[in-house]
Amino acid sequence: MNVGLKTQILPAGEAAVAAAGRALAEGALVAFPTETVYGLGADATNPAAIARLYEAKGRPAFNPLITHVGDLSAATRIGRFDARAIALAEAFWPGPLTLVLPKTGDCTVADLATAGLDSIAIRVPAHPVARDILRAFGGPVVAPSANLSGHVSPTTAAHVQSDLAGRIDLIVDGGAVAVGVESTIVGCFDEPMLLRPGGVPRGEIERVLGRALLQPPEDANSDTGQPLAPGMLASHYAPRTRVRLNAGRIDAGEALLAFGSNAVPGVDAATAVLNLSAQGDLTEAAANLFGYLRALDAKGARAIAVMPVPHHGLGEAINDRLRRAAVGRE
Ligand code: TXA
Ligand code: MG
Repeated sequence: MNVGLKTQILPAGEAAVAAAGRALAEGALVAFPTETVYGLGADATNPAAIARLYEAKGRPAFNPLITHVGDLSAATRIGRFDARAIALAEAFWPGPLTLVLPKTGDCTVADLATAGLDSIAIRVPAHPVARDILRAFGGPVVAPSANLSGHVSPTTAAHVQSDLAGRIDLIVDGGAVAVGVESTIVGCFDEPMLLRPGGVPRGEIERVLGRALLQPPEDANSDTGQPLAPGMLASHYAPRTRVRLNAGRIDAGEALLAFGSNAVPGVDAATAVLNLSAQGDLTEAAANLFGYLRALDAKGARAIAVMPVPHHGLGEAINDRLRRAAVGRE
């Protein structure tokens, strides 16, 4: 077991980046900020390190990981890019887009990281600390969100600490992240498919492709169906408190997660109120989402009542995470 490790926490900077590069090379587990959420990094070519990563997260081993690299040229060594994939990489990398592609014949990423699939999920992150760490390490790094499996993704180093202290080696603290929801995942199959809505809105991707993204089959996103993006278990982003969606009023004992105006019936009796964005700004709402879910989860409310969030732009990713947070609890 990893449990019982001493977890070092270093403020982002030259010393932390160097320590992170060294730790990754030794097979250690390093949490670091990306622009979307904090990731828990391990050397993508080191099966023992990846096994420890699954164990630290308590993550089912059939759930494949995203491999992070510094640039497109490093990406083409592990994934086979067709013209469409190149166009997406050039438009959105570095940034919150993950591409699922066929593995190259000489891909060095461990089979354990791809859960034995012949495809690989690749992303070039934009966060300067993530980029510096990738450069210092010099190889591909797998990094799922740095939370216990099933918990809400971390958007600050303190969130990482509360889930993983004692289970991982190092946390690099680069402050709060900018985007707040995970990367958009596009499957570059014969027909490009939106496997997970995320930090790049669907419309921007469709504009570059000049066509609509396919939806995965309904049952690909459930716990029982055969998952296409196997991590998309229906209840993946769950606080412990029950989550009630599309709330138009607050019942006694509930906490309110608002969007836009707070003025809903019953709000005065709410256990706690947080507003994702009083201005109704979806970018601000995405950045606040996971932190606010964590904060309201700690209030001991009967339920977290969530006001409706519009579905356009980043709203698709926000509503996806909210739906998963509510699964099985409504
Ligand atoms: O923003 C992000 O993407 C963050 C940061 C840390 O980069 N990472 C992240 O990783 O969200 P994770 O492990 O929480 O989510 C990985 C997702 C899962 O849904 C997994 O099933 C899917 O990527 N995935 C990985 N490899 C895949 C593959 N070969 N085919 C289909 N889906 C894949
Ligand atoms: Mg995750």
